Amino acid sequence: MHHHITAAFISMLVFLHPGATVEAHNITSILAKFPEFSTFNHYLTITHLADEINNRQTITVCAVNNAGMSDLLSKHLSVYVMKNVLSLHVLLDYFGAKKLHQITNGSALAATMFQATGTASGSSGFVNITDLKGGKVGFGSEDSGTSDATFVKSLQELPYNISVIQISSTLPSAEAEAPTPEPAAVNLTSLMSAHGCKNFAEALLAFDAMNTYAGNIDGGLSVFCPLDDAFKGFMPKYKNLTVAGKQSLLEYHGVPVYQSMPMLRSSNGMMNTLATDGASRYDFTVQNDGNDVTIKTSIVTAKIVGTLIDQQPLVIFTINKVLLPKELFKRDIAPAPAPEANPPTADSPKKKHKSPPVPASLNSPADSPENASADEEADSNNGVGIKGFRFGGLGLSFWFAYLVM
Ligand SMILES: *[C@@H]1O[C@H](CO)[C@@H](O)[C@H](O)[C@H]1NC(C)=O
Ligand SMILES: *[C@@H]1O[C@H](CO)[C@@H](O)[C@H](O)[C@H]1NC(C)=O
Ligand SMILES: *[C@@H]1O[C@H](CO)[C@@H](O)[C@H](O)[C@H]1NC(C)=O
Ligand SMILES: *[C@@H]1O[C@H](CO)[C@@H](O)[C@H](O)[C@H]1NC(C)=O
Ligand SMILES: *[C@@H]1O[C@H](CO)[C@@H](O)[C@H](O)[C@H]1NC(C)=O
Ligand SMILES: *[C@@H]1O[C@H](CO)[C@@H](O)[C@H](O)[C@H]1NC(C)=O
Ligand SMILES: *[C@@H]1O[C@H](CO)[C@@H](O)[C@H](O)[C@H]1NC(C)=O
Repeated sequence: MHHHITAAFISMLVFLHPGATVEAHNITSILAKFPEFSTFNHYLTITHLADEINNRQTITVCAVNNAGMSDLLSKHLSVYVMKNVLSLHVLLDYFGAKKLHQITNGSALAATMFQATGTASGSSGFVNITDLKGGKVGFGSEDSGTSDATFVKSLQELPYNISVIQISSTLPSAEAEAPTPEPAAVNLTSLMSAHGCKNFAEALLAFDAMNTYAGNIDGGLSVFCPLDDAFKGFMPKYKNLTVAGKQSLLEYHGVPVYQSMPMLRSSNGMMNTLATDGASRYDFTVQNDGNDVTIKTSIVTAKIVGTLIDQQPLVIFTINKVLLPKELFKRDIAPAPAPEANPPTADSPKKKHKSPPVPASLNSPADSPENASADEEADSNNGVGIKGFRFGGLGLSFWFAYLVM
């Protein structure tokens, strides 16, 4: 069993084709030129906001120097709350020094990255920028109603991609500073059910795959949830899978690594899943398609259509199709090949020709499609048997036994 874990770990590290995208800007290296912003820069990195900033255009980062960060640090916020607070400091519009001093009618509301996460309610998540007397420019979160922070100076302007400015202090916001549940405390199934993935959530609960998911959160987990319409359409095929097949299919929709949307965009390539187990690869390919990010198996291409939660180390996306692994499903071959002399034999399990006795593609044990004969024998000879399947990803691996009826 030990070597399984090692193999899974090593193969997990193999991401083919590392990102070939051209970075227009890198907030980490811009701020690295200003050592007095090292704390702010550090938190952009550990909250992964830096990745999101680098993947956006027409953006303004309101940085606060180390002295100005001390108030915020004294509140001892969790990293998840820190992410909300700092995302309020990233404006989704370009404000260079010149534009800040020319605000029409004296004040403007700017949407922020906090607003874009959907965590913010109402007008919180907006920053009110006001031209004040004496040439000052004030900044305040809309929910605080104050503008305590003021513009200090411009650090770097790359019009109109990114403007990095210094403001005098952090922007207080009760909403951004409100405690956020730790990802491990998030009830995954109720979150999924509430956001259009009820069928998938119910399947997870029924098959205990939920425990595999939950056990991987701490080490990093990305889940791709098929929306209800897609899962409903797939139900007849799903019902045809064996218990082990269902388990593998459900685990195939999870990846034991945290991969936010910007990270997926910049690291296209093959990915292992929670169903990967040695020779049973159960992998898929992430690929950009214009602005979309798609997940390709050799049978289906699904598109990421939404994000349910993105709180490192957990991210849950919604997708428009069920991912079909080639280990469980055969590609539909249009014209059947000539059924010549090629009788099925017990030791040619990899044959491509479909033969009259129904091929076991949907019913063979999921973890060893190429080596199924022994298990199949056991199944058909004997109504009842006990089998063990290992499942899980890095950090979680256990056995369960069930009765084959
Ligand atoms: C941005 O720069 C930092 C340090 O300069 C580097 O570690 C990081 O990999 C860069 N990020 C990207 C996406 O290139
Ligand atoms: C500025 O104020 C004028 C008059 O009150 C109004 O018509 C205009 O829409 C305002 N412009 C903006 C950008 O808010
Ligand atoms: C922004 O703040 C200024 C000054 O505090 C205030 O007059 C203005 O009404 C605020 N704007 C909005 C949209 O709340
Ligand atoms: C802005 O981004 C575009 C595309 O990513 C790039 O071609 C351009 O050089 C960038 N402009 C600046 C000033 O960095
Ligand atoms: C999650 O919520 C569902 C109801 O939506 C409940 O059945 C389940 O027990 C909850 N799970 C945990 C771990 O609290
Ligand atoms: C389910 O399996 C049965 C028997 O193997 C087959 O006739 C049927 O077409 C399958 N249904 C689907 C939706 O794959
Ligand atoms: C098939 O089974 C044999 C013996 O049980 C094992 O040595 C071999 O690695 C298996 N092959 C695959 C592809 O799982």
